[in-house]
Amino acid sequence: MEISGKKAFLPPRELVRGSNIQTLGAWADEWMNATLTDPDGFWLDVARRRVIWRKEPTIGLEGDFHSARRKPLRWFGDGTLNVTETCLDQHLQKHGDKTAIIWEADEPGTGCTLTYRELHEKVCAAACMLYLLGVRRGDRVVIYMGMVPEAAIAMLACARIGAIHSVVFGGFSAESLRDRIIDCGAKLVITQDEGLRGGKIVPLKRTCDQALVDLGQVERVVVFKRTKGEVPWTEGRDVEWKLSDATYFPAEVMEAEDPLFILYTSGSTGKPKGQVHTCGGYLVYASYTHETAFDLRDNDVYACVADVGWITGHTYIVYGPLANGATTLLFESTPTYPDAGRYWDMVDRHSITVFYTAPTAIRVLAAAGDQYVFPYDRSTLRVLGTVGEPINPDAWMWYYKIVGGERCAIVDTWWQTETGGIMISGCPAATPMIPGSATLPLPGILPVIVGADGKPIRSPGTGRLCIAEPWPGMTRTIWRDHERYAATYLEEVPGMYFTSDGCSRDKAGNHTISGRVDDVINVAGHRMGTAEFESVLTADPLVAECAVVGFPHEVKGQGVCAFVVLISTTVPEDLAARLNALLRDKIGAHAKLDVLHIVPGLPKTRSGKCMRRILRAMAKGEDNFGDISTLADPSVVQAIHDIVRAQPSS
Ligand code: WTA
Repeated sequence: MEISGKKAFLPPRELVRGSNIQTLGAWADEWMNATLTDPDGFWLDVARRRVIWRKEPTIGLEGDFHSARRKPLRWFGDGTLNVTETCLDQHLQKHGDKTAIIWEADEPGTGCTLTYRELHEKVCAAACMLYLLGVRRGDRVVIYMGMVPEAAIAMLACARIGAIHSVVFGGFSAESLRDRIIDCGAKLVITQDEGLRGGKIVPLKRTCDQALVDLGQVERVVVFKRTKGEVPWTEGRDVEWKLSDATYFPAEVMEAEDPLFILYTSGSTGKPKGQVHTCGGYLVYASYTHETAFDLRDNDVYACVADVGWITGHTYIVYGPLANGATTLLFESTPTYPDAGRYWDMVDRHSITVFYTAPTAIRVLAAAGDQYVFPYDRSTLRVLGTVGEPINPDAWMWYYKIVGGERCAIVDTWWQTETGGIMISGCPAATPMIPGSATLPLPGILPVIVGADGKPIRSPGTGRLCIAEPWPGMTRTIWRDHERYAATYLEEVPGMYFTSDGCSRDKAGNHTISGRVDDVINVAGHRMGTAEFESVLTADPLVAECAVVGFPHEVKGQGVCAFVVLISTTVPEDLAARLNALLRDKIGAHAKLDVLHIVPGLPKTRSGKCMRRILRAMAKGEDNFGDISTLADPSVVQAIHDIVRAQPSS
């Protein structure tokens, strides 16, 4: 079938029975009620049904996108709770023996499982350990770990005490880690001796030690021994992760609007932003969207193969699935270790029913070949999800046909660190699927496409994606910088939340996300600011100035292209290696240049502003640069173009 001239597929009929939302009409009813008729009533009802409160909230939303510029929005403001009572305690009586976490360790078939009872005990014991080390309500704790169950246990133990965790992705460098520790004011860091990924050692403790040099603020470092490799030890500061026999730790009663965690994201300018998610609204939204977008069933074996260092890991490995009493898988390895069949081998061994990954992984695996998929039994799969970047229709079709055997629903889920949970996505049993389109907003979400004139475009149309009404899962502020929050999200289009994504909407109301309209690049699902790259590169004494842009990349979605002006005319042979080493050191191994152009100058306006759109067009391989008459030196465009053409990017 076709929808608005695009190929489309009906949701698999077998999915309807037992589904939460069975028809498009049912989705429309729920959407109307949640979004337009009675948002407060809808969310209060969801909140009461899905979350265990110490005091049930009677208030829904307080504030709007105008008032939020001065004062953070509030949801469920008079409610109190501890998130772990929803994620753990409530399941003990009926489902204590149900598997909460399946840990698939680096080597295929190794790892362990934890029941809800075991997880609850470990979280209590870890909370006790942290409490004895001085962690209290409101303290910040940085977690710098790999994909081990202890990472999830550490997050939940903080939540149990009422401490605010900030997980830093294990691929970040010492300097990035240090910046985040300083920004959030953490007094304790939890790390592990070494990580293990694809058979390779990740020196987490060593990197952590480097990050902490002369940083008195961190009093304690708790080290989980994963590999038991030899690591340096600072007496008096470092303590080994050891769980006591304590099997109960009382849950601290928190206000709904108390912060649950801080997670740093890259923006188009300056340093990373500490996004603040709060206890009540975040949990309500995580729980509701996890059930709705994946059409969760009681016996599901649910696998999200993201990293807990990113928001997807927070919401859809830990908080959403556990709130819903699901069995959630935690994956330590990579999609290609020991070969490109790893995911499907896992699906087979664990009888996975819902599988959630990123387009970049799908493209890598599709390129490796179908022979890695077919040997494994995938008949348990029902829903396949993607997140993190736009998925190209070819990769979508491969996922649908080869992995899902044309029997599974695909949900292309659009959302952001800032949104806390999925915003635009099909409902597996109800929404017709369009390869490459995230399709429809979830109930409660009102997307608006804003044109160049700043006015909403009535569908269909193309423009900047905004959200017109608040939802419970959104970040409330940037840690200790509310002005920056207002400036980034609430001032671009007054009265709305600005997503920084471009989007088009078809006649049927389906949304297709085109990607960022700001200077954020999305490389293999890693969100990075071009400004972060530029500040590292210009710190090299050889570099006079530079500009970094993204360009379409077949596997990674976007690649990174740097235009660099050197101080002297001699170009060292190892320049690319040297700059990449610098990036690895300052940001992390995921920050790498794909293309480097040494150019005589940058295209600047007379006021000195670099016209990045010209460089973006060049990096894409285009020949038309539009109006360049406002440049201080238009001839530089030709010079750069000659260099780019002599060194094609792919
Ligand atoms: C992009 C990840 C197209 C988008 C959850 C957004 C997507 C950024 C999709 C947020 C999708 C995420 N289709 N683009 N389904 N999902 N994005 O904060 O550009 O790491 O703004 O959150 O990823 O990245 P973040």
